[in-house]
Amino acid sequence: MSNGKTRVAVLFGGQSGEHDVSLRSARTIMGALDPAKYEVIPVGITREGRWLSGGDPFAELTAASPLFAVDAGSGFDANAQIVPAGRRALPEGWQAEVDVVFPVLHGPKGEDGTVQGLLELAGIPYVGSGVLGSAVGMDKGMTKTILHQYGLPQVPWLVISRRDWLTNPIPMCEMIESQMGLPCFVKPANMGSSVGVSKCRDRGELLEALETAARFDRRILIEMAVDARELEVSVLGNEAPVASLAGEVIPGNEFYDYAAKYIDDNSLIEIPADIDGTTMNLARQLAIEAFQALDLAGLARVDFFLNRESGELLINEVNTMPGFTAISMYPKLWEASGLGLRELVDRLIELAFERHADRA
Ligand SMILES: Nc1ncnc2c1ncn2[C@@H]1O[C@H](COP(=O)(O)OP(=O)(O)O)[C@@H](O)[C@H]1O
Ligand SMILES: [Mg+2]
Repeated sequence: MSNGKTRVAVLFGGQSGEHDVSLRSARTIMGALDPAKYEVIPVGITREGRWLSGGDPFAELTAASPLFAVDAGSGFDANAQIVPAGRRALPEGWQAEVDVVFPVLHGPKGEDGTVQGLLELAGIPYVGSGVLGSAVGMDKGMTKTILHQYGLPQVPWLVISRRDWLTNPIPMCEMIESQMGLPCFVKPANMGSSVGVSKCRDRGELLEALETAARFDRRILIEMAVDARELEVSVLGNEAPVASLAGEVIPGNEFYDYAAKYIDDNSLIEIPADIDGTTMNLARQLAIEAFQALDLAGLARVDFFLNRESGELLINEVNTMPGFTAISMYPKLWEASGLGLRELVDRLIELAFERHADRA
């Protein structure tokens, strides 16, 4: 603490394909941290992995961000409270200068346990899941394996390696078509924001999709396509997590791809989701079970498919650092459940200190 305020280092940007999304999330979070209680120390991470902490790293990174070009006038003025020029550099000596870190990073090298490991070694409390939960949550294949072990419902899936695909492309396609059928979804195991995700209707699209996914990761996930509504539940807590109401995303494009999420602005969000009470309760319960199965902490958004035909609820994925933009589902769901943005970030920081004390 300095002058009675908690010093929060907010990490944003990062080396993943979700660099730009992170900038938007960080802006929301920095804008929500009560200036009477917190001193914000903005720390930008460039796409190359350089940490910037002097001057105004937020302005520096957003100036180079294509998402910010289409982002004018969203109403947030987080810069108003960002500590201006002259901060000493992080990470040197950061233990002495920071009380807690909020790693607002999405995707690999941020949400995947790497930064969490650094913070563990530095002995600094941080918001969100630890090394294990973050690493498993980032990898869609590992997540599926563990959720399956806990008997939680999911779509049929399989994982292949980039090497398998490169050495035997045609047998791999045949195997995928016979086991998953078409259409199917192809995804890099370690990604988010729909980066590298494709829907494949025929062999040509499958080949293209595998090539795309292989550019992002060594491990490729293939899933049976379901005709489903998409529900999302926010989870908050450590040992005794609580779940929000479920919301529904109605993608504006054929599926909820990157453009539908961040560019086209044509997707709808319905909170709470228009579903029956039994499905609502089941979604909330499954969200907590998934959170605990994966040993998550702090926060997570658990995403579901609600099969239109069978009414079956399937877990699609977990996000250990869900999007936090002004229109993102995670904070919106809490708002609808009675917890405003400012109280939500307060609670997340409290949970970071609790978990740190618990582990010490
Ligand atoms: N098995 C599937 N069946 C139907 N739609 C899917 C399937 N997998 C993914 N999708 C669509 O693709 C979107 C992105 O996939 P998802 O696994 O959630 O990746 P990300 O982590 O990038 O959000 C989903 O929101 C959904 O619209
Ligand atoms: Mg998703």
